[in-house]
Amino acid sequence: MNDQFPFEPRIFDKLEMDWRSKSNQIRTALRKKTQDSHNSLHQNPSFEALLAGTLSRRDYVQLLAKLWAFYRPLDQKLISACKEFNTHIVDFRYAPRARLLAEDLAKMGFNPELPYPPATDTNWACCRTPAQLGGILYVIEGSLLGGAVLAKAMGRSDELSGSGQNYWIWCRDHCRRRWDMTMRLLACYDYQDISELASAADATFQAMSNWMESENSIEEIEGSLA
Ligand code: HEM
Repeated sequence: MNDQFPFEPRIFDKLEMDWRSKSNQIRTALRKKTQDSHNSLHQNPSFEALLAGTLSRRDYVQLLAKLWAFYRPLDQKLISACKEFNTHIVDFRYAPRARLLAEDLAKMGFNPELPYPPATDTNWACCRTPAQLGGILYVIEGSLLGGAVLAKAMGRSDELSGSGQNYWIWCRDHCRRRWDMTMRLLACYDYQDISELASAADATFQAMSNWMESENSIEEIEGSLA
């Protein structure tokens, strides 16, 4: 049994203020260190158009397919890493999200019988230490906060009314609870500085940016749309 997470939830309950103040410090530092890569994701044309309510249905399907292809292998990797580092000890359980995206795609006419588009590689997602896992989870769970904003924007889009939106609704409904869980997890690290967390977080933002911007994969995804 890995003892990298030696704290038990009841200890956190007694020291509620301690973990909150520690996680706030970590969050502030990570936010600062990843500000540029986070902002560059905001400038992704699909996210921008979704936010502005101007994304076409076809581009929306491509966005879902890209997110799905990103999360499908990553979900498995993160489930294994959470198990390896016993994150359940501090009540953190990773929730896979590729399934929700697949359901939304099905609602948009994506035929799951057709060959799937190739999934992204996850070599960038090193989970050899709890700090690396924490950096990745900071970004992946933080993306729900952005997803909640996008859920609202989608509600205002006539073009996307009736489209598969389960993923964004899930982000909206679960972001606060999951973010709290993530902050609690990050607070139980015993670290000298946050450079390992920050590098992993930055690599995660970068990996998503690169994947969202890659042109060739859009064609591959198009080829497998119904
Ligand atoms: C256009 C798309 C996006 C929008 C509009 C957006 C918006 C936001 C907003 C408003 C917050 C702050 C929420 C709060 O503190 O209450 C936030 C936080 C965050 N978002 Fe984004 N986001 C987007 C995309 C993403 C994506 C794709 C990722 C990661 C893959 C991401 C990662 C994060 C993280 C890690 C935080 C937490 C930052 C912190 O420490 O405060 N976001 N986002």
